[in-house]
Amino acid sequence: MKIDYYGHSCFAVNLPEARLLFDPFISPNPLAGHVDVDQIKADYILLSHGHEDHVADAVRIAKNNDATVIAAFEVASWVNRQGVQKVQPMNHGGAAAFDFGRVKFVQAIHSSSLPDGTYGGNPGGFVIASSKGSFYYSGDTALHYDMRLIGEKGGLDWAALCIGDHFTMGVEDAETAASFVGVKKVLGVHYDTFPPIEIDHAHAKDYFSKKGRQLHLVEVGGAVDL
Ligand code: NI
Ligand code: MN
Repeated sequence: MKIDYYGHSCFAVNLPEARLLFDPFISPNPLAGHVDVDQIKADYILLSHGHEDHVADAVRIAKNNDATVIAAFEVASWVNRQGVQKVQPMNHGGAAAFDFGRVKFVQAIHSSSLPDGTYGGNPGGFVIASSKGSFYYSGDTALHYDMRLIGEKGGLDWAALCIGDHFTMGVEDAETAASFVGVKKVLGVHYDTFPPIEIDHAHAKDYFSKKGRQLHLVEVGGAVDL
C-alpha cells in the first residue's frame, strides 16, 4: 500500500477502489505549510476523534471531494451539521463494509471534543481490511491491553501509531502496541508538530529496530510503501 503523509496524524492510503484520508490537520500545522489542502484528493475521510489537530481540514476536504466521512457517531453528526452530506457514523466494536473493504471502529483511551466545544463521544481507532491488505490506525491513545484482541485476530500488515508521548503513547509504548497488534512495520504519527511532542528520530528508529521492528518517519509531503 502506498501511503502519503501530510504531517501530524494525517496520512492517505491509496487503495485500488478508493483513497482514504485520515485525521486531516494541515492548514494550521506549522510543519505542513508547503502542502496545498485544496489539492488533496479523498474518497473517504476517517476521523479518530474530534480534537482540532485531527479534524481541522476535514469539512473543507470533504466538501472539495464530495467525500464520505467515517467517524464516531457524535463526530460524524457534527461534520454533517457543517454541511457534509455523506457521513458514516460508527461506534466501538462495530464494523461496516465499504467498496474498498471493511472498517472496524475500535477503542482508544483518550478524550474527544470538537473545536467548538461540542461533545465528541468516545475517541477511537480503525482496523481496515482491504483487497491490498490490512492495517490498524490507533488514533490518539494510551497503550491498552485490548490491542491484544486486534493482534489475536491476526492478519495485519502494518500499523499507524501515535509516538509523540505527552498526550498519547510515546515511542516505547508504541513499540509494545506494535507487538500487541502483531506488526513489524509502523508508520509513526502524532510527533514533532508542537514542542511537547518533539521526538529524537534516531533514538526512536533505533528502539524499534532493536526489537525487530521498523519505524517509518516520513517527511511531511512524502510517501512510503507499507
Ligand atoms: Ni487528541
Ligand atoms: Mn491529537
